[in-house]
Amino acid sequence: MSGAAEPGLDWTGRELAVEVGPVAHGGHCVARHEGRVVFVRHALPGEQVLARVTEDRGGSFCRADAVSVLVASPDRVEPPCPHARPGGCGGCDWQHATPQAQRELKAAVVAEQLARLGDRPDLPVTVEPVPGGPLGWRTRVRFAVDAGGTVGLHRHRSHDIEPVEHCPLATESVGQLGVTLQRWPGAQAVEVIASSGGDLALVVTPRAGADVAVPPLAAATEPAVLSQPGRGGRATRVRGHRAVRERALGRIFRVGAAGFWQVHPAAAETLAAAVVRALRPQAGDSVLDLYAGAGLFAGALAPLVPGGRIVAVESDRGAAGDAVYNLRDLAVPVSVEIGQVGHVLDSVQGGFDLVVLDPPRAGAGARVVGQIAARRPRAVAYVACDPASFARDIATFAGHGLRLVGVRAFDLFPMTHHVECVGLLEPERPA
Ligand SMILES: C[S@@+](CC[C@H](N)C(=O)[O-])C[C@H]1O[C@@H](n2cnc3c(N)ncnc32)[C@H](O)[C@@H]1O
Repeated sequence: MSGAAEPGLDWTGRELAVEVGPVAHGGHCVARHEGRVVFVRHALPGEQVLARVTEDRGGSFCRADAVSVLVASPDRVEPPCPHARPGGCGGCDWQHATPQAQRELKAAVVAEQLARLGDRPDLPVTVEPVPGGPLGWRTRVRFAVDAGGTVGLHRHRSHDIEPVEHCPLATESVGQLGVTLQRWPGAQAVEVIASSGGDLALVVTPRAGADVAVPPLAAATEPAVLSQPGRGGRATRVRGHRAVRERALGRIFRVGAAGFWQVHPAAAETLAAAVVRALRPQAGDSVLDLYAGAGLFAGALAPLVPGGRIVAVESDRGAAGDAVYNLRDLAVPVSVEIGQVGHVLDSVQGGFDLVVLDPPRAGAGARVVGQIAARRPRAVAYVACDPASFARDIATFAGHGLRLVGVRAFDLFPMTHHVECVGLLEPERPA
C-alpha cells in the first residue's frame, strides 16, 4: 500500500484504535493507521488510544484527538483544567502529562528538529524548569470574544471559541480583574496584561465598525485601556498609560502594553542570564542586539562591555522608542536603529564581536543569517521560540562557518508545546 490516502478519502469523524508513537512538533504524537500518519493530540508516546479524526485534507496524514485511553502512559495525569480536553480550549497541549514528562517531550522535539532540519543529530538537549509551577504564570492572556460578547479561548486550529471563566495558566493578577466574567459586545479580542512592575492594562480589539464599552472590572486600580484594530495593528490609548513597567535585571523597563515582553515572570531574567553566559562579553566588545524589543538583552550586556558599543535593531517604532528610553542611562553608547533587521544591516558599518538575535516565530531567514556571519562575530546567541525555524537557521549558519556548539532550552510555557531555546554559535575552527 502507498503512503498516501486514496483520492477523495476523508476519515474525519472516524475512530481509530492506534498505538501512539513519538512526540512531534506542535503538541501531538505520531501514530500510524492503514499506511497513513495520524497526528494525535491528548495522547502520550507508548499509549494505546481510540483516536477520533478531527481534520483530514487527504494526503499522507490526518489529525485526531485521543477520545479514550485504552492503555495509559505512566506519565499521564488528570488535566487540572476542565477545558483541556478533546474539542475544548486549544491553548494547552500537555496538561495530561506530568511537568517532568512535558519537559522530556519538548526536549525530544528540539533534538529532533535540530537533527532533521539543523543537521545536528549529536547535540544533547534537556529542557530546564524555571521558578514557579506549571500554573499561574501567564502575565499576558489574549482572550477571544464571540459575536455575542462572551469571552473565551480559541479551540485547536479553529476560529471557534470555548467560553472560559478562568484560565489556570494566568497569574492571580490577571484572573482577579474578572475580564472573563463580563460581556464585551463589539469586541473581537481582549488582552489582559499584569506586569511585573504592578501595572494592569487591557488591549481591546474591536470588531470592524464597532465601539467597545469597557465594563466595570474588579480591580483596585483601574487598568489602562488601549484599542488595537487587529493583531499587530497600531494601538491607540483610550485611558491610562500606553506602557506598563516590567522589572528585570534590577531595572524597570518601559514596555508598550501592546508591544512585546516575555510572558512568563521568570523569562526575562532566565533568558538574559543564558545569553550573557553563552556570549561571555568582555570590556570593549561591540555588540549587535537584533529584534531588540524594549532592549532587554542590550540592557543585560551593556554593563559587561565597558568601553564597547551596542547597536540594537527593532522594527516596531513604539518598542524602539521604549528601548531608547530604557537604555538611556547606560555608560556604554547604545544606538537603537528602527527598521527591519535585513534593511538596517545593509547600512550599519563595521564588524561586531558579539551578536544576540531573538527573532519572531518565523526565524531570521537566510539573508539575515548571511548578514550576521559577514560581521565575523566571536559568538552569536540565538534566542528561539520555534525549534523548527531555529534548526533551519542553524543549518544556514553552518554554511557560513558558524557552528552551533551548545543549546539550552527552558520550560517558559508550561502545559503548552512551546519551548524557548538559547543556542550558542561560534566560528568553525580550521581542522
Ligand atoms: C521575540 S520578540 C523579542 C524582543 C526582545 N528581544 C525581548 O526579549 O524582549 C521579537 C521582536 O522583533 C521585532 N521584529 C519582528 N520582525 C522584525 C524585523 N524583521 N526586524 C526588526 N525587528 C523585528 C518585534 O517587533 C519584536 O519586538
